[in-house]
Amino acid sequence: AQQAPDILSPAFAADPYASYRVMREQYPLIWHEGMQSYIVSRYADVEKAFKDPVFTSDNYDWQLEPVHGRTILQMGGREHSVRRALVAPAFRGKELQEKFLPVIERNARELIEAFAADGSADLVAQFATWFPINVIVDMLGLPREDHARFHGWYTSIIGFLGNLTQDPEVTAAGLRTREELAAYMIPVIQERRANPGDDLLSALCTAEIDGTTMSDEDIKAFVSLLLAAGGETTDKAIAGVFRNLLANPDQLAAVRADRELVPAAFAETLRFTPPVHMIMRQPSADVELSGGTVAAGKTVTCLIGSANRDGERYADADRFDVFRQDLTTANAFSAAADHLAFALGRHFCVGALLAKAEIEVGVNQLLDALPDLALAEGETAEEQGLFTRGPASLRVTFTPKG
Ligand code: HEM
Repeated sequence: AQQAPDILSPAFAADPYASYRVMREQYPLIWHEGMQSYIVSRYADVEKAFKDPVFTSDNYDWQLEPVHGRTILQMGGREHSVRRALVAPAFRGKELQEKFLPVIERNARELIEAFAADGSADLVAQFATWFPINVIVDMLGLPREDHARFHGWYTSIIGFLGNLTQDPEVTAAGLRTREELAAYMIPVIQERRANPGDDLLSALCTAEIDGTTMSDEDIKAFVSLLLAAGGETTDKAIAGVFRNLLANPDQLAAVRADRELVPAAFAETLRFTPPVHMIMRQPSADVELSGGTVAAGKTVTCLIGSANRDGERYADADRFDVFRQDLTTANAFSAAADHLAFALGRHFCVGALLAKAEIEVGVNQLLDALPDLALAEGETAEEQGLFTRGPASLRVTFTPKG
């Protein structure tokens, strides 16, 4: 048998998918001393860790608290559900369609207009990293002229969370961001309490839970989570859609010709190259997984990126295919059936439909504005990252519209 792959090794970072295969086949349960965590890689085990209520996310606290404060990701039970319900309506249905779809369309258009006449662009640096964070800042009703500040802040929060190798500078930057965001947000929160508007931040500031509103600090933590969770993931997803389509020109042509395929391209991208590769859970009692028993209280790292390539679950799992028969995401609420990129269960991504709306608008507008889209010479669109992962750059060429 091959040696068990080490998640923190350079070989793993260069191509985690090869290591995932070895893990699924030979080491479905690994104890990682450095991470002080078990690692599971099979679809069945990752699914179980998300769905079985024996698993909690309590162990997130040490990881998330220093940079965010206390967020819904660290909560369970009623504490979690009442707070999650405060933002959920904004991210789906009528409120999303009527109030926020124009915000999404405007932000996509503004970014694309800035490079559409150039004939070349880096779709990561000039579009994907800006689009979702700008949307969430606008949804919260924060000043548009501060887009760049929020971009800096979310980037440094994500850096902190993905800092598996404990680089001290990255840690320090994340902690500094917590201070800066608090110094910026607390006065805004106090102002919004006194003069609420029609935005998501006002909704958070005025909502009553058991007769009281959330504290300034709790609201700031919520905003911090929304910036990171909504910015980073959709950034990686939109870059991933184009990366995967550009690597399969026949599929790019098919999607360009039939826009009904855009949701399938999104769903298949989330399966094939998910933005979030790993998330943590903790069993509250001893639990059986493939390969052995995990004792209560131990941390389990769930490899979404591996589960989504499990041949036991998907035919021809290592092939990107927008025509895959088991893709049903064209129907909005079935996202959970196709892949584990949004997790499952209590913490299933509350922004999944917002992300879907963003991707559909972004991909359609880019396809309309950029004819003859092709990878620029020398662009390898290599993926980077362990916790979240996506192409570091995506330089493309196209025929500028006349
Ligand atoms: C939760 C992925 C977009 C907000 C999650 C989780 C995953 C995920 C895997 C579960 C985390 C865990 O249990 O540890 C994604 C992906 C996205 C995306 C792949 C894009 C393609 C968004 C957007 C927002 C958002 C646009 C909204 C601004 C959240 C929040 C949670 C969450 C607040 C915590 C939910 C809870 O604890 O109940 N997301 N997400 N996400 N996501 Fe997303």
